[in-house]
Amino acid sequence: MSKASSQGSDPVQNSEPAQHVAPESGSARGRLSRRGLFGAIGAGAALAGAGAVVGRVTAPEHTHAAADIVEFRGEHQSGIVTPTQDRLHFVSFDVVTESRDRLVAMLREWTEVAERMTKGEETYPGAAVDGPQYAPPKDTGEALGLAPSQLTLTIGFGPSLFGTADNDRFDIYARKPAALVDLPHFPGQILNPAISGGDIAIQACSNDPQVAVHAVRNLARIGTGIVAVKWSQLGFGRTSSTSTDQVTARNLMGFKDGTNNLKAEDPSAVSEFVWVDPADDQDWLAGGSFLVTRRIRMLIESWDRTTLNEQERVIGRFKGNGAPFGGSEEFDQVDLQSAGPHGPMIDHRAHIRLASAESLGGVKLLRRGYNFTDGSDGFGHLDAGLFFIAYCRNPQTQFVPMQLQLARSDLLNEYIQHTSSAVFAVPPGLRDGQYWGSTLFGAAGSPPA
Ligand code: HEM
Repeated sequence: MSKASSQGSDPVQNSEPAQHVAPESGSARGRLSRRGLFGAIGAGAALAGAGAVVGRVTAPEHTHAAADIVEFRGEHQSGIVTPTQDRLHFVSFDVVTESRDRLVAMLREWTEVAERMTKGEETYPGAAVDGPQYAPPKDTGEALGLAPSQLTLTIGFGPSLFGTADNDRFDIYARKPAALVDLPHFPGQILNPAISGGDIAIQACSNDPQVAVHAVRNLARIGTGIVAVKWSQLGFGRTSSTSTDQVTARNLMGFKDGTNNLKAEDPSAVSEFVWVDPADDQDWLAGGSFLVTRRIRMLIESWDRTTLNEQERVIGRFKGNGAPFGGSEEFDQVDLQSAGPHGPMIDHRAHIRLASAESLGGVKLLRRGYNFTDGSDGFGHLDAGLFFIAYCRNPQTQFVPMQLQLARSDLLNEYIQHTSSAVFAVPPGLRDGQYWGSTLFGAAGSPPA
């Protein structure tokens, strides 16, 4: 098995950007250049004459480095504690069919294709250029020749997928987790409903943006008539580390982000705060998690006019090396009690004080967000910020109190604006033979008798 990581306990060590080198196989077909093949076929076609059946140009075969592949199957889905890749394409779908059978059939097909794409393969063997000439290719082709780039594809199911007691469209209302309800209103947020919520989410993370975009594009194409893209978000420059092997990256405010995050190397904390326990909620979700997304726009121009002193007071850490006030190194313990001659070192309203487990009765979550820049807003301001992603065992008792405390008092609020919100239940990882949704819809996919 070309295994680079097993989700949950054994993180990938290689967090460096992948080499985008996909050596061609030693087969005769692999050794021929694309141009050479076209030339050969052109000659063949000329000889055979119009209307004759000739060989078609085939895509070169590739082999990929095992370290560049993140194992798709495992106890937990990949893309959660997997060391955060550099790029994100997140997409939220509305289900547009009323047919449970069609939905389950699509989830099965998605699973098969997703597993292939995470190995750096086409959606179907030869689908990009070897298929029938008078039909649209079943792989869009832009990832041909690219390495898997540690692509992970993680699926989640939104509250609306489960319908209501009166409209139980897919016979799963009784299986809706108690914690899977839309997040409450938080002070100060101005959400755009067009880019919030959704029935099904796919988080595609990769070290190559084209690989992530290709994966989402092909899943959307396969889902035509069954799902429709509601909204999507591209991200770059991960704003969190999920492994102690990773260097802490910086967010667009210029601060190291992810220092005090949960890390894969602490499996007991991950079990306590990320994985749903069988006793917690619905059986089908055991070993899964909950995913919260918040698109948080930064008021970059205001931030950029703020003194360094003030920026550091807002966060509670030094901008240079990320050390907490009262400490000298990035990973020094945060001491909320430390005080100087003029009061507490870490302001009462500093971000790291209000978000800390210590001030929240022990609550933590796993952050896995990305920077985004979506151009400018028409007034000459950058539309940029943090696409916040968190995984937790229960959003109502972890994310909600944390965000409530931040929304009420965080000094950061002067410089940010939450513009979208979503929550999804993330099923556990797949064993061999299982498909995305197996535990929810059943192995056969038919409704309970
Ligand atoms: C644009 C918005 C945000 C920015 C710029 C931001 C930035 C930061 C920075 C620089 C740190 C310190 C380094 C670290 O430990 O990771 C931090 C810590 C943290 N942030 Fe945020 N953050 C934002 C939003 C949020 C939100 C929405 C939440 C959760 C509701 C959150 C939860 C946390 C937590 C739990 C910590 C660790 C606190 C501790 O030291 O215990 N952040 N954030």
